[in-house]
Amino acid sequence: MRILSGIQPSGKLHIGNYFGMMRPALELAQKGEAFYFIADYHAMTSITDPAELRQNALDVALDFLACGLDPKRTVFYRQSDVPQVTELTWILSCVTPMPMLENCVSYKDKVSQGMRPNHGLFAYPVLQAADILIVQSDVVPVGKDQKQHIEITRDIAGAFNRQYGEVFRIPEASIRPEVAVMPGIDGRKMSKSYDNTIEIFGDEKATRKRIMSIVTDSQSVEAPKKDLNKNIPLQLYKVIASADKAREMETKLAAGGYGYGDAKKELANALLEYFAPMRAKRAELMKNLDYVREVLRNGAERANAEADKTMRKVREAVGLR
Ligand code: ADP
Ligand code: TRP
Repeated sequence: MRILSGIQPSGKLHIGNYFGMMRPALELAQKGEAFYFIADYHAMTSITDPAELRQNALDVALDFLACGLDPKRTVFYRQSDVPQVTELTWILSCVTPMPMLENCVSYKDKVSQGMRPNHGLFAYPVLQAADILIVQSDVVPVGKDQKQHIEITRDIAGAFNRQYGEVFRIPEASIRPEVAVMPGIDGRKMSKSYDNTIEIFGDEKATRKRIMSIVTDSQSVEAPKKDLNKNIPLQLYKVIASADKAREMETKLAAGGYGYGDAKKELANALLEYFAPMRAKRAELMKNLDYVREVLRNGAERANAEADKTMRKVREAVGLR
């Protein structure tokens, strides 16, 4: 089984990214041949400062390695080190119907938030399809917001195969229901673009403060709190803490006399404890950036070999060779 996923270097890693995509991806990597990459071409749709893009890409590399990616098992690379994906993007564009992209929810969302769309943003899902298809992946671990992009990838691969013969494997999304949409501190989906995230590698004091500012309803400390839908601290705690600990908190909340403030403090402690080893590892890696760059160079080589293999078949199939 071949597994592929990517993350844009467009800001700081948050617990939605980690539990929604990174942890499931790292678990899946034990079961097959994994390709994980830093989607820096994609990030160009929102980041225009070169120094920022370069720094963010390195940050994602540190994040992934600190969170446990094993570069011996997993091919880990920067998207732009495999420029063949941009060639494949063009070729796939020529079998992609316009309405498929016009109906794309994440595109429409960004435009409705006031972003002035460029062609890159519009063509974003085709580049993503190229990422996935160029290594012939079977499984793509992602959060729920990426579901439509994977469906588009399947449709594009199908359209290509019908037109030119069977070249691509049809991939499938892998989405864990319990962490498909992690809520942010304002109750909407946690996302960099909503400024409602809880960072993993942020300063400890700032992280605690952020958690204390999670929105809740206005029930008093004494009141029993049974409605899970309105209880973001408990929802997050359930993902981070053990099942026993989570049940304990639920019981305390339901009994009354235990307030949201208490729950948030426990959440902050659990979160900092959970990520302590990764924070320590990241600090270590920061002192050894040559190693990180070497990992990416090595990943680029392995990813290039796969990309070349697919591109030979693709060029031949479409008549470019
Ligand atoms: P953001 O929305 O913060 O910009 P990205 O688009 O960079 O996040 O997402 C990177 C990965 O993390 C994707 O697979 C995405 O589905 C997943 N992800 C992002 N936010 C969440 C969330 N709140 N819950 C679950 N998964 C998420
Ligand atoms: N669009 C994805 C996101 O914002 C990042 C991404 C780019 C990706 N290419 C991919 C994810 C290929 C999975 C597979 O999160």
